[in-house]
Amino acid sequence: MKISGIKGMNDILPEEIEVWHFLEHCVREVFHAFGFKEIRVPVLEKTELFSRSIGEETDIVSKEMYTFFDKSDHSLTLRPEGTASVMRSFIEHQLHKTSQISKLYYVGPMFRYERPQKGRYRQFYQIGAEVIGEDNPLVDAQLLIMLDHFFKRIGIEDVQLQVNSIGCPECRPRYRQALLDFLGDKLELLCGDCNRRYQNNPLRVLDCKVEGCGKACQDAPSVLDYLCEGCSRHFDTVQQLLNDLKVPFSVNPRMVRGLDYYTKTTFEMVTGSLGAQNALAAGGRYDGLIESLGGPSLPGIGFAIGMERLVLMKGRDSVLASGIDIFLAALGEKSVEKSFFLLSGLQKHGIQAEMDFSGKSLKAQLRRADKAKARYVLILGEDELGRNQAQLKDMEKGSQETVSLENIESFLLDLLS
Ligand code: HAM
Repeated sequence: MKISGIKGMNDILPEEIEVWHFLEHCVREVFHAFGFKEIRVPVLEKTELFSRSIGEETDIVSKEMYTFFDKSDHSLTLRPEGTASVMRSFIEHQLHKTSQISKLYYVGPMFRYERPQKGRYRQFYQIGAEVIGEDNPLVDAQLLIMLDHFFKRIGIEDVQLQVNSIGCPECRPRYRQALLDFLGDKLELLCGDCNRRYQNNPLRVLDCKVEGCGKACQDAPSVLDYLCEGCSRHFDTVQQLLNDLKVPFSVNPRMVRGLDYYTKTTFEMVTGSLGAQNALAAGGRYDGLIESLGGPSLPGIGFAIGMERLVLMKGRDSVLASGIDIFLAALGEKSVEKSFFLLSGLQKHGIQAEMDFSGKSLKAQLRRADKAKARYVLILGEDELGRNQAQLKDMEKGSQETVSLENIESFLLDLLS
């Protein structure tokens, strides 16, 4: 019986890999320019790491984690996001002491047991960035400038930055209470999930997608009216800096994030092109997270971008698949042997060279060269070999010339490098 892949977990096939490589290339180019260093952490962590940082009551922890017991009866979880793991690693290796590195980025798969649909998967890739140790609003602005620049670099235009501030442990309880008071007599209008959220996580009611909940929240109090002086000043400065640096944004006081660790600035990059899964990137400040995980009292801020959503936006084959440098078309045993040695020599020098080993006709070999988008084809027939010559075809120009096989490797290396 045929075994198929797991629902919501996708293969990324060779024909679509170019756009992934392009995105990964742009991440390194842009993030390195902004002073970020890559970190790679395991996909498995102790379950407690996520329940403590993301929050027991969140959808992610309460419904969506891939959790299991290993053979030693330890509860482990496939990471549903990267921030918690990166903070765990930062604390464990005392990166604030052992190195001056405080800007980290990562690219890798995350796992959430969600209902799969276009743009929402059970294994999905994130590009994430975290800045640790600075609570200056300049850092918030710089991160958003980098995000804005990244989207420009990859050529995605239909994207809008929305920002909000959800306050801090000093001011948020006052807002929470105001929201509870407001929603108290509207519980019958809210969906079942929101009735549960009302008890545990009332801010999440604000971004419920159910129509009735949206209507019930229409006149809900705005979090921005409840910010303490520090949070308010911080948010004003972030907006001022974005304006000064001409980064377009709008303020969305309804934006609450689905993870509990956020404080102050939160943001999302949304698009009108992807239907319900409209967030291409999201993030915010998490000033209490590191301490709550047993680390030093250091603030942090970061974001993560959903790579599948970028690929959907760009189109799978938007980045032209690059062709090979040269195809060696050989006819007859001796030519195949000669070409094979030449092939290995070229490949060792980093030239993308290919040949056919199956003794097909010249026509069939040229078809294969065409498919491989070869820049040149070197045709080596028996007669030509006798004259120590070959035909070199320039596939772009359509021209052909006779070349000597004397020093052919260095001749081709000069031509192709
Ligand atoms: P998040 O909002 O849960 O935040 O996810 C960030 C982005 O990952 C989303 O905007 C979306 O593009 C993508 N994403 C999330 N779930 C899925 C899914 N099931 N399928 C496809 N794409 C998905 C975080 O994960 C935070 N760790 C971000 C962060 C970093 N905050 C501070 N630092």
